[in-house]
Amino acid sequence: RQPEVRTVAGAEEKVKGNGRGQRGEYLTTATGTRLYETDHSLTAGERGPTLLQDHHLREKITHFDHERIPERVVHARGAAAHGTFLANGAAESICKAAMFASGARTPVFVRFSTVLGSRGSADTVRDTRGFATKFYTDEGVFDLVGNNIPVFFIQDGIKFPDIIHAAKPHPDREIPQAQSAHDTFWDFVSLHTEATAHTLWNMSDRGIPRSYRMMEGFGIHTFRLVNPDGETNLVKFHWKPAAGVHSLVWEEAQIAGGVDPDFHRRDLADAIEAGAYPSWDLGVQVFPDTEDEMFEGIDLLDPTKIVPEEIAPVQIIGTMTLDANPTNFFAETEQVAFHPGHLVPGIDITNDSLLQARLFSYLDTQITRLGGPNFDQIPINRPHVPVNDMLRDGFHQDGVHTGVAPYHPNSLDGGCPFLASAESAAYIEVPEEVSGRKVRQAPATFDDHFSQARLFYRSLSPIEQEHVAGAYTFELGKCFEENIKIRNLEILANIDPVLAKTVARGLGLEVPEPTEPLEDSEPSPALSQVGA
Ligand code: HEM
Repeated sequence: RQPEVRTVAGAEEKVKGNGRGQRGEYLTTATGTRLYETDHSLTAGERGPTLLQDHHLREKITHFDHERIPERVVHARGAAAHGTFLANGAAESICKAAMFASGARTPVFVRFSTVLGSRGSADTVRDTRGFATKFYTDEGVFDLVGNNIPVFFIQDGIKFPDIIHAAKPHPDREIPQAQSAHDTFWDFVSLHTEATAHTLWNMSDRGIPRSYRMMEGFGIHTFRLVNPDGETNLVKFHWKPAAGVHSLVWEEAQIAGGVDPDFHRRDLADAIEAGAYPSWDLGVQVFPDTEDEMFEGIDLLDPTKIVPEEIAPVQIIGTMTLDANPTNFFAETEQVAFHPGHLVPGIDITNDSLLQARLFSYLDTQITRLGGPNFDQIPINRPHVPVNDMLRDGFHQDGVHTGVAPYHPNSLDGGCPFLASAESAAYIEVPEEVSGRKVRQAPATFDDHFSQARLFYRSLSPIEQEHVAGAYTFELGKCFEENIKIRNLEILANIDPVLAKTVARGLGLEVPEPTEPLEDSEPSPALSQVGA
């Protein structure tokens, strides 16, 4: 019987799939045999039971039963787009990566996300946003897995499960989706005061961006770049949106979240479809690679600290433009796997202990999320250069490897892959001296938890400061435990007396005294990366 519904005219041109999904004119089983019927199960008589022998029924239902994969343990809700990164050559003197050579064009895939909500949650909640970029470079994949807030909640990755347990929906009722009404979140940040600066950024307008197209992005950690002469510099990466930085106000976020929970996802896809391609400049702050890894008194290994742009300007090294929506959400946006350890020659990590924990965590979680160790073979994750590894077998192995000797060197396979020179390979760790007794303790330079929160707060305009006070009052007002509110007010007292007083009054509580002296300084000049 001829299929009644034929391919919609013109649909072929629009489909950018890899041809493996749907080919041929006829509806088939997964093994390619043509079907004449797909709407009725095979039954013993019209009113009889369904027969076990109906393979098409069982294949169809079984495959459907297994359609879902686990959502990401964090950043489950996201939207993505394809584009290109164009280098302007300004990084050539500090980094030998080919992607930074003047005029080099590198295909990219970028996924934006919220951190805490589940896959189906609303876009406009108050939360940090992920900003993860996969560069398919001529030297392999480089992933810059950042956020839209330049500081992080915690200094050591060993606390990551704790902050996420505290911030995810409560285990009993599975509410809320974000930070509102959240005793555990506010309990955590009041007991781990290193989270103060990030919490303040979250309570500012930065926590409710207007659009993914209007967010900055930050690599947060300090990275080490190596130039062609083997010289090193420490850097922090920044994305600067051409559309500027814009936020919603709280009431807008509430309305948008109710009327259109897909607000950001739709905005990104619509803009790209309409040809209004979003773009960002990529910049670096550059610091000398000194033995103490400090810059102007700021510990560069502390991910809860920024380096103000006034003392280390952001130097633009290229521009990224997103110009194509994904063809298939699951195949691309859901299956993409970013990893801070995906590095190319010239870009190296540092000893930031948050980053070190991430290097372990992403690969580990992706083995579960993407069903085994071969997810690098999924089309969206494949590098755009040849792969010649000695990894074999495993679930979902797509390669049909030839030869008998998957080890290096070997003398059997008629020629072993070459090894690159040390100068042209990735993972040539800079040979730094490391020494010291094994300890479970942060350096003393990590102890300052409030000065940068003050710096940020003072850089905001009066209306932005008002929004911060309103956000704290609203969020803390939803906490049930009074002692949690009081501990958070004590933290606010260490940031700014007016802020502490405004929120305390809003909550109907006493205004606490600061526990450390507030510098008696004028409000800082607006930092260009804050309150812009
Ligand atoms: C996912 C950023 C710290 C564990 C993500 C994603 C982003 C991100 C953007 C989503 C990637 C995507 O779109 O697929 C960051 C930043 C951090 C940070 C900027 C700190 C500077 C950590 C730490 C850990 C961690 C400390 C664990 C020790 C994870 C895990 C995922 C994830 C398990 C899910 C990955 C997946 O399923 O593919 N992170 N993260 N992150 N992050 Fe982080």
